[in-house]
Amino acid sequence: MGFKGRSVISVNDFSARDFDIVLKRAEEFKNLHKQGNANKISDLLKGKRIASLFFEPSTRTEKSFDAAIKNLGAEAIGFGNPSNTSVVKGEPLVDSLRMFENYDAQAIIIRHNLDGAARFAADSLKIPIINAGDGKNQHPTQTMLDLLSIKETQGKLDGLKIGVVGDLKYGRTTHSLVSALTMFSSNKFYFVSPDVLKMPLYYLDLIKNRGHDYEISNDLQEVAEKVDILYMTRIQQERFPDTMEGKEDYDRVKNLFSLHAKLLKNVKPNLKVLHPLPRNKNAIELDYSVDNTEYAYYIQQAQNGIYIREALLDLIFNDSEIYTEKKQEYKTASFQNVKPRPSAKKGIIAPIENGIVIDHIAPDKFKEVSSILGLKDPEINFSLGRVTRTNGEKKLILKVSNRNISESLLNMLAVVTPDSTVSFIEHSNVVRKGKVKLPEILNNIVACPNSSCISNLIYKEGAMPMIYVINREPAMFICHYCNIRFGENRVKLI
Ligand code: CP
Repeated sequence: MGFKGRSVISVNDFSARDFDIVLKRAEEFKNLHKQGNANKISDLLKGKRIASLFFEPSTRTEKSFDAAIKNLGAEAIGFGNPSNTSVVKGEPLVDSLRMFENYDAQAIIIRHNLDGAARFAADSLKIPIINAGDGKNQHPTQTMLDLLSIKETQGKLDGLKIGVVGDLKYGRTTHSLVSALTMFSSNKFYFVSPDVLKMPLYYLDLIKNRGHDYEISNDLQEVAEKVDILYMTRIQQERFPDTMEGKEDYDRVKNLFSLHAKLLKNVKPNLKVLHPLPRNKNAIELDYSVDNTEYAYYIQQAQNGIYIREALLDLIFNDSEIYTEKKQEYKTASFQNVKPRPSAKKGIIAPIENGIVIDHIAPDKFKEVSSILGLKDPEINFSLGRVTRTNGEKKLILKVSNRNISESLLNMLAVVTPDSTVSFIEHSNVVRKGKVKLPEILNNIVACPNSSCISNLIYKEGAMPMIYVINREPAMFICHYCNIRFGENRVKLI
């Protein structure tokens, strides 16, 4: 697939082979540093300019990217503190990004509090975007350095037992790491978290679907004694809802799982404790006593960030193969035409001279259908029939005179009342009839149910909601930006 010109948005855009390429190059660079030969890579990005835009605080990611850019001879521009920028004046994200592209940045590294911000950035610009963490969604470069740390301590990335502890609900590092490790074979995960911070079902399904296994436990010591890698994470107060309930939840769970050296007495000799850091000294999930044990590897893990980021930047600018993304085409309409029966002119739809007839509307969906078609408008002439079929099933038939219906409205009908049919009447003839059907993609029709998604209208970032239909019966959807999966019970029309 090649790396030159490639964006790094989600681990799901990468394969096990891709990770292997990045890790191998990072190992080469690490060796050069260790041998005192870092000068051999100091011109790799000479003359390049890379922007680093950190809308959220960071120590490791921001500073290791900064070091990597400089170590490879490129120029770094950007900011690490948005409160000193025009963001505070209400500047939209896309404008900030375009400015840096106009200032000749040839790649942008972005950290943002909203899920899907990196995908939106990549959609909006022509230059590569590197996701340095987007909300609770993804942190792909962290995952690459985690994989490097696992590989160098265990010698492999498969057949491992991995304990993942802490904030598994909002923890983007755990989401990215688990997704990546499922691309290798025979890994087993042990999840330890407070009840309110459980690993989302999507990742549990992913583990099973890719042939791995997992267990959920409340016993940190027991898990520590079983695993090869114990991946601790901070309970992220900043991601809890900003409500009294959110605060109470945080206080209740912040100290539930804390790793002390005394819990590591009977562990496997190859155990390594990792942590993406920072840890929180006020609700310590990783006690200082662990630092002096042979199992602690989180400081080396953070150092690996430099080599991974150097490797990635080198590949993005210098790989011999240009990245060619296979752009998948999605059908935006799926209205299924059927041949109108001659008798359709008569009976219940005959009275309409021009307009549409919608049949098989579920009785409890009329309110939504009325809203889609704007039936409250007094200018619109419609009538509604209630029918009980011989099998007892109830349905509504709606006749709307002098009204056509756009593709987008047909898609909306498919979302709210997927069994309905629409007949188009001209001069009392049915000129077209068909069954509404969910298309492959819903553009600007259904809202992402994730309140932290960049496409949420409250953020006014101009990211048009794009929802893929991944299953029709039962309907299942996935957001283009934040990758959240949801069923029809969470569907809300825009
Ligand atoms: N691991 C990590 O992302 O750390 P920072 O927040 O300090 O960048």
